[in-house]
Amino acid sequence: MVGNIIAITVQDFTYAYPNHSAVLQEINFEVRKSEMVGIIGPNGAGKSTLCKSLNGLIPHFYGGSIAGSVTVADMDTMKHSVAELSLKVGLVFQEPSNQFSGVSTKVDEEVAFGMSMMGYPREEMRPRIEEALHAVGLQGLEERSPYELSGGQQQRLAIATVLAVRPEIIVMDEPTAQLDPVGKTEVFQTMRDLNGKGYTIIVAEHEIEAMAAFADRILVLDHAEIVTQGETRKVLNEVKKLKQMGIDPPSVTELCEILRGELKIDEGKFPIELNEAISLFSRVLREHAK
Ligand SMILES: Nc1ncnc2c1ncn2[C@@H]1O[C@H](COP(=O)(O)OP(=O)(O)OP(=O)(O)O)[C@@H](O)[C@H]1O
Ligand SMILES: [Mg+2]
Repeated sequence: MVGNIIAITVQDFTYAYPNHSAVLQEINFEVRKSEMVGIIGPNGAGKSTLCKSLNGLIPHFYGGSIAGSVTVADMDTMKHSVAELSLKVGLVFQEPSNQFSGVSTKVDEEVAFGMSMMGYPREEMRPRIEEALHAVGLQGLEERSPYELSGGQQQRLAIATVLAVRPEIIVMDEPTAQLDPVGKTEVFQTMRDLNGKGYTIIVAEHEIEAMAAFADRILVLDHAEIVTQGETRKVLNEVKKLKQMGIDPPSVTELCEILRGELKIDEGKFPIELNEAISLFSRVLREHAK
């Protein structure tokens, strides 16, 4: 259940990489605990930069100049180290193997690696490893080499390494971009399961149909600014605006926008998922047949 507790507050946040002009401009949004929020936008809009700003990599690792503030799990990212922030916010990257240590020969060692770097005692690790692998559906594969897993399994392992730390917030930067359709489905299902368990999830993602199905709210970034944000249906109904930015809305939404004269439905109420569109079309056909 999404409550009223605030997980993330981004306030008048402007950021420029060293010796560059700003790539995030006056960003404002809030995320409540247990929400699942999608970030969409064309290439270069600033999605990855925003993801890295949520766990302190920006500014601590990248430097650059900042105005405004980012607060995650009650911590100002300027005032807390990446190590402190990573206890509360886990970041999963696009390429699963980038996230791997490169030294572990087994799945369970890989999950342990991040924790051992953070100084967790051995006896605390075992239950956390089991819990994390179970949460992503990789139980039973503890002995397997991370490099012998499918793409979807590798990405789920990357998520498990983050989960083992028991963060409250998980930020994913295009976690399905490198995956085939089976892998994408596995990762989206994992995201949905984790969100169901109360994790707050922020995901930058090009798979608009998946966002339509999973996200509570969507932020649209374009040229360093948030151009629209709100409830998923409202944002995805802005078909023309999205297309102008080079973002394809869900196919069913676009079709309904084209047929809006025939369908007689108000803007803002177009279906965003296939099953909704099927019910709508069946109703319209029945009315036609009368
Ligand atoms: N380390 C860096 N130093 C300087 N500029 C950078 C750096 N990383 C990204 N940028 C620039 O910041 C802007 C935003 O990039 P970012 O990677 O955040 O966009 P994105 O929305 O994630 O794009 P994509 O969809 O291609 O992943 C781009 O103009 C990019 O060239
Ligand atoms: Mg990116």
